[in-house]
Amino acid sequence: MELSFAEASGPAELNFCPCDTAHEKTGVPKQEFSGAAGSVLILREAGRVVAWAGLGSSTGLKENDLRRASGIAIRKLIKAGQREICINCGIYSGFAKAIAEGAVIGAFHFEGFKSEKKEKTGLERLVMSGLDEQERAWASEGAALGEVVNRVRELGNQPPNIITPAELAVRAEQYVRRSGATMRVWDEYELGIEGFGGHLAVGSGSVNPPRFILLEREVDPSWPTVAIVGKAVTFDSGGISIKPAKGMEEMKLDKMGGLAALGILDAVALLKIPVNLVVAVCAAENMPGNNACRPSDVITLYGGKTVEVLNTDAEGRLVLADGLAYVAKRFSPSLTIDIATLTGACCVALGMERTGLFTSDDELASTFHEAGEASGDRCWRLPLGREYSKDMESDIADLRNSGSSRWGGASKAAAFLEHFKGEGRWVHLDIAGSGMPDYALPHMEGPATGAGVLLVAETLAKLFGR
Ligand code: BES
Ligand code: ZN
Ligand code: ZN
Repeated sequence: MELSFAEASGPAELNFCPCDTAHEKTGVPKQEFSGAAGSVLILREAGRVVAWAGLGSSTGLKENDLRRASGIAIRKLIKAGQREICINCGIYSGFAKAIAEGAVIGAFHFEGFKSEKKEKTGLERLVMSGLDEQERAWASEGAALGEVVNRVRELGNQPPNIITPAELAVRAEQYVRRSGATMRVWDEYELGIEGFGGHLAVGSGSVNPPRFILLEREVDPSWPTVAIVGKAVTFDSGGISIKPAKGMEEMKLDKMGGLAALGILDAVALLKIPVNLVVAVCAAENMPGNNACRPSDVITLYGGKTVEVLNTDAEGRLVLADGLAYVAKRFSPSLTIDIATLTGACCVALGMERTGLFTSDDELASTFHEAGEASGDRCWRLPLGREYSKDMESDIADLRNSGSSRWGGASKAAAFLEHFKGEGRWVHLDIAGSGMPDYALPHMEGPATGAGVLLVAETLAKLFGR
């Protein structure tokens, strides 16, 4: 879907208004349209559609209020059959980037695999009006970032019989092409030779062997190196510690961290953030099988640390540990961010709309928090510390992959990963809720959300400029 700019509005026009001017602007009684955040009014006048998106209170309006209102209204208009929508930014033209971003993310629809193709119903043309040259540039950037997020969602929604670890490496080539990165992919033999014991253990029960996919975008050797390490478990059955049948289908989304890492590469290239970026996608399928890893196995991860596997469903930390250890050794990044649908405990703590953030660096934590509020891709800090790390110690190996109880599970997983972070600054992002919420959101189609892409892009822009 393309974004264009015009002054005359087309067959459907979208406007924004807060509560205090809702009645005056629309002529509709307050009871019918209050202008509350999330509300949408669609008026039909002589073959034309004029829609209003409510913004809530007019004081202290933020970027994300416009982004969300835009996404919600675009979805409603598309559902109402509109194929061409003109957004009249009006007095909100300063928010053009967020409006465009919200609209593009809101318009996304996963086509799926129906054998009888229905007539196309998606949005064909998105027009924005009321923008000067600078605002048009912002809008274009917002739309492009929206497309970055949508590509991640498109891949995320694909089923696991199609997106195997090997196929993911093939799909990653598109990211190489767009961003000008280079790529190396480790197959199961190379993983064995170089000692990626986490990938081998997690992938051993599956006929679809694991892959370690490394993309490097070096632009200027004098720039700092940032590494993103993403969990891409293409399907998490739990392995021998198998998950219950109910809801297991959601675990095709256990690859969202790795996909977000790819999206971050797109975003960094698009925004021209002055960092050399390393993206490591840790891809494996977690299945029970004759050769699968068992509870009580002891494995050796990349770099030599040993782990007693007590629960094969705590597999994400094993592949991530390989990835973190590898990038630390090879690149010594000044900042490493790992991102993963890691723990159900994170969903219990924060719900499904906020990413769990773990770091011992207070300054980084507050930059991430601000970036989350600005981008709408929100996060909340959870603790690290000895009380968690001591429960990840094993009697017979360096570490164990699962603690003694469910309590503090998200922090214990983070404390496990901390052992592999290397010397630079480090942040762990748990997107188990935010990356794959189990209920419908108003501003975008589910289930894959692309969580983490805008959060990290915004954070890197704040940290390193652009
Ligand atoms: N992929 C899951 C985490 C998850 C759960 C993501 C629910 C999204 C929604 C992860 O591999 C897992 O199974 N974690 C276990 C860890 C436990 C065995 C220590 C969990 O959270 O229960
Ligand atoms: Zn698992
Ligand atoms: Zn998992």
